[in-house]
Amino acid sequence: MLPKKGTSEEEILNELEKRLNVDLTFNSGKILGSMCTYPHSLAQKIICRYMDRNLGDPGLHKGSREIEKEAVQMLGELLNLKKAYGSIVSGGSEANILAVRAFRNINDVERPELILPKSAHFSFLKASDLLRVKLVWAELNDDYSVNVKDVERKINDNTIGIVGIAGTTGLGVVDDIPALSDLALDYGIPLHIDAAFGGFVIPFAKVLGYDLPDFDFKLKGVQSITIDPHKMGMAPIPAGGIIFRKKKFVDSISVPAPYLAGGKVSHITITGTRPGANAIAVWALLKHLGFEGYKKIVKEAMELSRWFAEQIKTLDGAYLIREPMLNIVSFGTKELEKIEKELKKRGWGISAHRGYIRIVVMPHVKKEHLENFLIDLKEILGEH
Ligand SMILES: Cc1ncc(COP(=O)(O)O)c(C=O)c1O
Repeated sequence: MLPKKGTSEEEILNELEKRLNVDLTFNSGKILGSMCTYPHSLAQKIICRYMDRNLGDPGLHKGSREIEKEAVQMLGELLNLKKAYGSIVSGGSEANILAVRAFRNINDVERPELILPKSAHFSFLKASDLLRVKLVWAELNDDYSVNVKDVERKINDNTIGIVGIAGTTGLGVVDDIPALSDLALDYGIPLHIDAAFGGFVIPFAKVLGYDLPDFDFKLKGVQSITIDPHKMGMAPIPAGGIIFRKKKFVDSISVPAPYLAGGKVSHITITGTRPGANAIAVWALLKHLGFEGYKKIVKEAMELSRWFAEQIKTLDGAYLIREPMLNIVSFGTKELEKIEKELKKRGWGISAHRGYIRIVVMPHVKKEHLENFLIDLKEILGEH
């Protein structure tokens, strides 16, 4: 209830401390099933210092706008693009919606259709509903990557775009993006890559020697990429990224925003008023960590994932769904629902609603957390 008279800061803070005690925190070592992590300490400082900056009115905050542009450019360079167009947005969902919106707008089709893998994130359902674009689901291969032949079979005159995934939400699978790119070029259809998760993993993992397909603008058919700094980029929520190869995509989704205090500009994002601090934090982390800094984070996460996958293989009553490609390890168990319930009772932040338990080895996940989890898992499996 809204109090008539205000409450002291101290009381408010004390109440929050008590009430939010039930939230799982990343540093508890219990959150094993999230793609978010504890933000980098530099980003925390930046959020406090620049929390008043509004990228929705860039005429007022010209410095912030410049910094956002540079952040977009650095993300583009990470993805092998010389000149990048796009924005720091609220997350992977908004980024995917913007890509579908651009593909729809540049295509003059009455009944637009988008072909995407059955493994795609549910944000495309939102895009479909908002934009009235029909989703055409492509089958998966036995290894859970998209079946490129099925994608080709589903292309028709209404197809406005194809989606490939570089790091699926459930299993971290990277589709055969080079083959999708060839297909997109052959048929003259734009290809969007959802690298919301993999965008901050694959470029570094490849340099570390992991055998992963190309997925970025190096491939000529790729026209746009979702890449989320608030996942493996260590940035605070909200921070997603949408990067386009060509200006025409951005132009197709620009709307004029005439009344702003800072002067007339145009917006491509779904949000109007939006946090400058988060975009500034993305810029700061890219500069501060650099390629080598992110490589180190990815090295640890990938090595720990491999170790954990090997441990799962030794368990009675549990099995890997597939060998991990990125730092996501998913496994099935006997009596999955019961096992999930027991793990949750012991405080583990995991879910099994996809038919398996997914462990995302984010930077806050340490070996000792996984060892503790394995002790509990073994015990619970033994009881069933
Ligand atoms: C592959 C992929 N795309 C998009 C999203 C949506 O990102 P967000 O939750 O930041 O909107 C996710 C989130 O898990 C994802 O895994």
